Amino acid sequence: MRKKIAAGNWKMNCTLEKASELSNKIIEAGSPDGVLTILCVPSVYISTLLDKASHGNIQIAAQNVHHKPSGAYTGEISVEMLSSLGVKYVVIGHSERREYFHETNDILLEKTKLALSAGILPLFCCGESLEIRKSGAHLDFVLDQLRETILTLSVEDFKNIVIAYEPIWAIGTGETASPEQAQEMHASIRNEVAKVFGQEIANDTSILYGGSVKGANAKEIFAKPDVDGGLVGGASLNGEEFITIMNSF
Ligand code: PGA
Repeated sequence: MRKKIAAGNWKMNCTLEKASELSNKIIEAGSPDGVLTILCVPSVYISTLLDKASHGNIQIAAQNVHHKPSGAYTGEISVEMLSSLGVKYVVIGHSERREYFHETNDILLEKTKLALSAGILPLFCCGESLEIRKSGAHLDFVLDQLRETILTLSVEDFKNIVIAYEPIWAIGTGETASPEQAQEMHASIRNEVAKVFGQEIANDTSILYGGSVKGANAKEIFAKPDVDGGLVGGASLNGEEFITIMNSF
């Protein structure tokens, strides 16, 4: 089902104290009616924050998961571990993972399938670099990222995917895609989903925008017909700011 989603991606930030304080504020504010709020938190805090969140209507997600089911992968976290904690969502394919950890489309597809098999819903990220945007090939580039990954899933699996479009040039730079640029990409993604899985499934797919979303710009971005919410980095580390974003639909 298509949902309005406010997702905060804390990345590698927050001490336990700050994580508690921030999550308390957001849980206390509560997700507005009809909005799904998800906090993508460092994995060391997942258990604690799941406990806290059980008293409210905020979901806790992992920021990553390994692409093999189990075994000798020191330091890694498996889908089985996440699902044994009760985690329902995981971010897959963030551009920082693609770039700094060399995660390819093949690896991302493996992660996606494993997560789905454990009942964990992927927030699947895609997005182009500034160079690709400037060359004018951004639509094709992003669609190819999806064609090589989630668009190869079965329709039953695909129904459980949330897509996050995050232009790399807008992440953490303060430079947001304009609402029109976001809409253009989201419409083209939805159109491609319709070609593969049919219009009904496409209409039911949630597509989030990410890249310098803040309290001050969320409303106009979320107002676009194909934008179903945001994946928010920097601004999600400030309780008031993130609560404003949650209330921007
Ligand atoms: P940003 O990050 O909001 O700080 O630009 C977004 C993201 O990387 O998910």
